[in-house]
Amino acid sequence: MSRIALVTGGSRGIGAAISTTLKDKGYTVAATYAGNDEAAAKFTEETGIKTYKWNVADYDASKAGIEQVEADLGPIEVVVANAGITRDAPFHKMTPDQWNEVIATNLTGVFNTIHPVWPGMRERKFGRVVVISSINGQKGQFAQVNYAATKAGDLGIVKSLAQEGARAGITANAICPGYIATDMVMAVPEKVRESIIAQIPAGRLGEPEEIARAVAFLVSDDAGFINGSTISANGAQFVV
Ligand code: CAA
Repeated sequence: MSRIALVTGGSRGIGAAISTTLKDKGYTVAATYAGNDEAAAKFTEETGIKTYKWNVADYDASKAGIEQVEADLGPIEVVVANAGITRDAPFHKMTPDQWNEVIATNLTGVFNTIHPVWPGMRERKFGRVVVISSINGQKGQFAQVNYAATKAGDLGIVKSLAQEGARAGITANAICPGYIATDMVMAVPEKVRESIIAQIPAGRLGEPEEIARAVAFLVSDDAGFINGSTISANGAQFVV
């Protein structure tokens, strides 16, 4: 029987590539989205992947949504916490709302996504957790005090979960994508984006599928001893 995988923010950008790559590998995928009904409907029509709408920042909505996915498809064995937002501004202009929105989605949202599936993974003695962090959680980024804080926090989450889950057959790892050709990066002003690409030794943005293939490896049986690690996928822009 195919494993059930939950991908938050799974109908667009990197998340969509993760959803389709896992489906191609034989997983039954549930992709969540927060607001864009049109994009989600189109995604389901094109891929056959079921989409679910909830706000990852809301614990009760996440728990109820996850219960619905499990009622529809079966126990979730793979969870990819990918949903994330940016509210970029230099720190002196950053508002408390910009700070709070990013913390709620990118950091609390990761807690809200993993916490409801964790007991089932412990009981069944198997689980795969992947959190999509960012190069900017590793190096910091001008105008991203909020985002960088959450993405660095995501690394702390997986390092701790790895230690808690290891004996129950659960692994938790993070991937730090560099600048990938998605709507999020395309929203950066063109001149700024060009200057960023100039700092990437690979000389180009990454492709969403280049992140998705790393996820597919981390959630496979072959990766059972890789636990608590951070994989950088950034074209050598930042080497740790
Ligand atoms: N380093 C140093 N200085 C910088 C800078 C940088 N990276 N970027 C901008 N500046 C400077 C500008 O030159 C300007 O200086 P002056 O005032 O002396 O001219 C100043 O900072 C910017 O001031 P503004 O008042 O014009 O800034 P703003 O309020 O209009 O904000 C911005 C503009 C939001 C910073 C915009 O430039 C921006 O979006 N930058 C990109 C930030 C970024 O890389 N975000 C990543 C998004 S992709 C992502 O997050 C995915 C992922 O995980 C990788």
